[in-house]
Amino acid sequence: MTDLISIYDARIADGSLTRDDAQEAVLPHFERIRAALSAPVKRGLFRKPPPPPKGLYLWGGVGRGKSMLMDMFVDALEDIPARRVHFHAFMQEIHAGMHKARQDGVEDALAPVAQEVVKSVKLLAFDEMQIIDITDAMIVGRLFDMLYEGGVVVVTTSNRHPDELYKDGLNRQLFLPFIARIKEQLQVWELVSPTDYRQNRLEGAPVYFTPIGPEARQSIRDVWTDLSGGTAEPLILQVKGRSVELPAFRNGVARATFYDLCGRMLGPADYLAIAEELKVLVLEDIPRLSRNNFNEAKRFVTLIDALYEAKVRLICSAAAEPEMLYVEGEGTFEFERTASRLREMQAQDWGK
Ligand SMILES: Nc1ncnc2c1ncn2[C@@H]1O[C@H](COP(=O)(O)OP(=O)(O)O)[C@@H](O)[C@H]1O
Ligand SMILES: [Mg+2]
Repeated sequence: MTDLISIYDARIADGSLTRDDAQEAVLPHFERIRAALSAPVKRGLFRKPPPPPKGLYLWGGVGRGKSMLMDMFVDALEDIPARRVHFHAFMQEIHAGMHKARQDGVEDALAPVAQEVVKSVKLLAFDEMQIIDITDAMIVGRLFDMLYEGGVVVVTTSNRHPDELYKDGLNRQLFLPFIARIKEQLQVWELVSPTDYRQNRLEGAPVYFTPIGPEARQSIRDVWTDLSGGTAEPLILQVKGRSVELPAFRNGVARATFYDLCGRMLGPADYLAIAEELKVLVLEDIPRLSRNNFNEAKRFVTLIDALYEAKVRLICSAAAEPEMLYVEGEGTFEFERTASRLREMQAQDWGK
C-alpha cells in the first residue's frame, strides 16, 4: 500500500502532473483519512466501534485539481469499500430509493436507504457537492447524520465554501444545521492553487475536428481521456419532471454524439440544464445540416446558444467547418450566428 504523497510524487516524476504547492498541501489531509481507514479495527465484544475519522470538504475554483486529488485518494484506498460518485447522481439514487420505500409503506423512507449505503461502503467520495434543490436541502442533514452514525466517512469536492451552500435557497434557515454539521464532521479545506489546469490543458489545443473520420475520432478520444481522467458514468438530469440523460459524464466533462443531444425531442429547458451542469462538452459527429434534418439543426442552434451563454467549453468533431455546416435551406441565415459562436468558442481563453 502506498501513501498519497509518494503517489503524487510519482506522477510528477512521470510528467503526468506539474508540481503544485497548494495541491501538495491537501495530500496530508487525504492521507490522514486513508491511514485511519486502513488501520486494523480492534474488535471486542463490548467495544463500541470507534467514531469514523473526520472527512474532508475540499473546495476551490474550477480546474484546480480537486477531482483529480480525490480520485487519486479513492484509487489509493485499494480494497477499502469506497464509492466515488457525482453528488447529484447520488442524491437522485437516494430520492429513487425513498420513493420505492414509501411505495412499500415504510414511514421513515430515508432510514432504509441510508442503511443500504452504510452496509455497502466505508467511504463516500462525492464530486461537486452543491445543493440547489429544496428536496435535497431538506434531507441531506439527516442523511449525513445516518451515514456518520453508521461509520461512513465522507469526502467531497465543491466549488464553494460550506457557508455558501444553498445560498438564497427556499427555507434556508432549515438548512443551516446541515452546514454546521458539515463543519463538524468534515475538515473544510480550500485548494488555493493559482492555476486552472483544465484551461491550461486546452490552451493551444485544437478543439474543432473536421472532417469526421478515424483521425477526428482518435483526437476526440484522446481529449476525452485527458479531461475526464477515469471511468465515466451516465448523468441523468431532471428537467421539469422529465429525465434527460448524458451518456458519459465525469469531472464536469460530458461526452455525447450529435444524435444523443440533437436527434431527440429535447427543448431549450433541457439544453439550459445541460449547460448549467457542464464545464466541457465533447460533442461528436456533427453532420452537415440542411432541410432534411431541419429539426436536428434547430435543436443544435438552441444547444449552442445555451452552451455559449453558460460559457461551456465545446470540443467537437464535425463534417465541415462551422460556416460550411449549414449552407442550404430554411434557416441558413439564423445559422450564421451559430457558426460565428462556434468560431468564437474555439478561442483559447473561452470557457468558465
Ligand atoms: N498538477 C497538475 N498538473 C497537471 N494537470 C493537472 C494538475 N492538477 C489537475 N490537472 C488536470 O487539470 C484538469 C482539471 O482538474 P480537476 O481535478 O478536474 O479540477 P477541479 O475538480 O478542481 O475543477 C484535469 O484534467 C486534471 O487531470
Ligand atoms: Mg471537479
